[in-house]
Amino acid sequence: MPDTITKLAYQAFQQGKSYFGLAHKAVSTQVMQTVSPPKDLQTTPLDLKSLQLLQQRMGDLLERDWQDAEAGVYPQELLFDNPWDDFFQFYPLVCLDLPKIWERLNKRDHHSFSDNIDTAGYPKYYLQNFHHQTDGYLSDMSANLYDLQVEILFNGTADPMRRRILAPLKQGLAAAGVENGAKVLDVACGTGRTLGMIRDALPKTSLYGVDLSPAYLRKANEDLSAKPGVLPQLVQANGEKLPFVDNYFDGVVSVFLFHELPAVARQNVINEMYRVVKPGGTVVLCDSIQRLDSPEFEAAMENFPAMFHEPYYRHYTTDDLNLRLTDAGFESVSNQVHFMSKYWVCRKPAAA
Ligand SMILES: C[S@@+](CC[C@H](N)C(=O)[O-])C[C@H]1O[C@@H](n2cnc3c(N)ncnc32)[C@H](O)[C@@H]1O
Repeated sequence: MPDTITKLAYQAFQQGKSYFGLAHKAVSTQVMQTVSPPKDLQTTPLDLKSLQLLQQRMGDLLERDWQDAEAGVYPQELLFDNPWDDFFQFYPLVCLDLPKIWERLNKRDHHSFSDNIDTAGYPKYYLQNFHHQTDGYLSDMSANLYDLQVEILFNGTADPMRRRILAPLKQGLAAAGVENGAKVLDVACGTGRTLGMIRDALPKTSLYGVDLSPAYLRKANEDLSAKPGVLPQLVQANGEKLPFVDNYFDGVVSVFLFHELPAVARQNVINEMYRVVKPGGTVVLCDSIQRLDSPEFEAAMENFPAMFHEPYYRHYTTDDLNLRLTDAGFESVSNQVHFMSKYWVCRKPAAA
């Protein structure tokens, strides 16, 4: 397909996802206000300037995504990768789950798990209904609905935001001379979206993923094995205590984890990343924007934890992760901001 047609198709695809996310949120908010109006929910509507800025940043993100695919950082097919089967199978369940979410929101019930879920052995901070999700991260149903819920939340930009880690990861591996045959770990890999992207961008890489949720790892295994490519090694583990020997990986990544950790756990995970990455290895993190670099989105950052249960988000938005990374021993720490996400790229000193 000529590039202009592919680009138009990509823009139309993203526009469709964006309209779908907006329509879902508009309708579900209306229904919630009618059947289960939230008590004491204090949010600030975004002003026109912020909305325009958000629109512009989203456009910039999609343009960068297109440019990286066009430049061969990753295959163009990745731009159109969408779990359609999941969409048709699970979208009705996303809607049916909403009344339970509203009930938990109103009752401020953030620690509710079905009776058949074994909650033993998890850190206390993890046993919560993040985003008011039914069963938190601990059921197969939660794992099945998660990707769809995140795509709706971000109006179809969750995958483009995840893909922003690929260029710095590839550059870091190339600089260390290990672009082919490297070992790369995704900490808190969830349902494996990022691992799938790395596998497409770097097919000769040995991939590993850890997550605390057995259900999300099962979903990752199911989705990743349904597509061509070597299956990543998936291990249930806490990012604070990685089950790997020192200096094992050429690259370590993590996407959308740090805002869900208390401060001490954030530092513990960073220290563990430092331990398991080789000297000269690269670490790339992606998470929400922060007050430190995006004060213009103050209202959006206030609204997010009020609407979705995110107990550590407020602290996260002021937490200087550059300092945490340098404290752990990393060097050459640099940052990027794309749409609603921020990135940290750093290296373990070659002589460490
Ligand atoms: C917001 S989701 C992000 C998942 C995935 N990286 C993505 O891009 O969608 C947070 C993930 O972190 C996992 N998680 C939270 N705390 C963790 C910890 N201490 N160690 C390992 N995984 C953790 C959860 O189980 C969940 O899959």
